[in-house]
Amino acid sequence: MITRKQPVTMMYSKALIKPDGEVLNYSDTSSGNDVLVFIHGYPFDQSIWKEQVIALSEQARIIAYDVRGYGSSSKGKEKFSIDLFADDLIFLLDSLQVNKVIVCGLSMGGYIALNLVKRYAERVKGLVLYDTQCYADNTIAKAKRYENIALIRNGGKQKYLEDMCKILFSPVTLQQKYEIVKQTLNLMLKADDDVLMRTLEAMAERVESCSILAAIKIPVMILCGEHDMLTPPEKSAFMQQQIQGSVLHIIENSGHLGHLENKDAFNQHLNNFLKSF
Ligand code: MLT
Repeated sequence: MITRKQPVTMMYSKALIKPDGEVLNYSDTSSGNDVLVFIHGYPFDQSIWKEQVIALSEQARIIAYDVRGYGSSSKGKEKFSIDLFADDLIFLLDSLQVNKVIVCGLSMGGYIALNLVKRYAERVKGLVLYDTQCYADNTIAKAKRYENIALIRNGGKQKYLEDMCKILFSPVTLQQKYEIVKQTLNLMLKADDDVLMRTLEAMAERVESCSILAAIKIPVMILCGEHDMLTPPEKSAFMQQQIQGSVLHIIENSGHLGHLENKDAFNQHLNNFLKSF
C-alpha cells in the first residue's frame, strides 16, 4: 500500500533544551527521505520560511530553526561566531538523529551553510546558497558593522532596522507589496539589541569561504535576487564560477528576500533542486 505524505499547513515549532540549559527552537515536518534545512538570515527567525515549509513539505522533510538569540532560541553567554552558529546546527541535527542534509542558507544563513561545508562536509549532501557571498568583510564593511553596533548601543535600533529594511527589497516590492515590507520590519524589530550587536560582531569577524569553493563536489544551486543590494548578483556569479557543476538562478523582481518577493519562482527552483536528489 502506498502511503501519501500528509501536506503540512503550518509551522509547529518545538524547543530543544541543550545540556547547558539553553534553548534551540526548531520546526520539523518529520517525514521524507531527503532532509532540507533552512537557515535564516540576519536579523530574522525561522518564521521567514513559513511559505516554503508549507510549499515544499511534500518534497522533503523540512527543518527550520531559530539561530541562537533569534525567535525563541536563547542567546546564551558565549561570544557569537559563525563557527558557534554552525555548531548549534550540528547539535540540532545530532539530537534529531539526522545525518546528511541539504542546506539552504539565506545571507548570514549562507555564511553558516558554508561554514558547515568547511567544518562538517560529511553532513552536507546538497547546498543552496541564497543571496549570500563567500567573502569576509572588507575594512569598510567591518567599520560599518561597528558603527551600527554603536548606533544600537545608543538606542538607535529602530532607525538602524528601518534603514536596513529600505535596502532589502526590490523597487517592485517596495511600491506594490507593502504588506511584505511591513511584516518583515515587524519581524526584524523583535530582535533583541544585545543579540543584534553580538551578531554584527560575529559577521564582522567571520573569515572568508571563497577558498573552499573549488573543493565542493556536492550539488549546489545558487539563487540571487536581480536587485539584491546587500549581496548583489556578481557575488553569486563568482561563487558559481568557483563551484564546479553549480547552477545560478537570478530571481526576477526581487531584492534580498526573493522567497517572499517572488515566492513562486523561488519555490519552483527549490522544488526542482529537491527533485534532483
Ligand atoms: C543577512 O541578510 O543575513 C545580512 O544582510 C548579512 C550581512 O549583513 O552580511
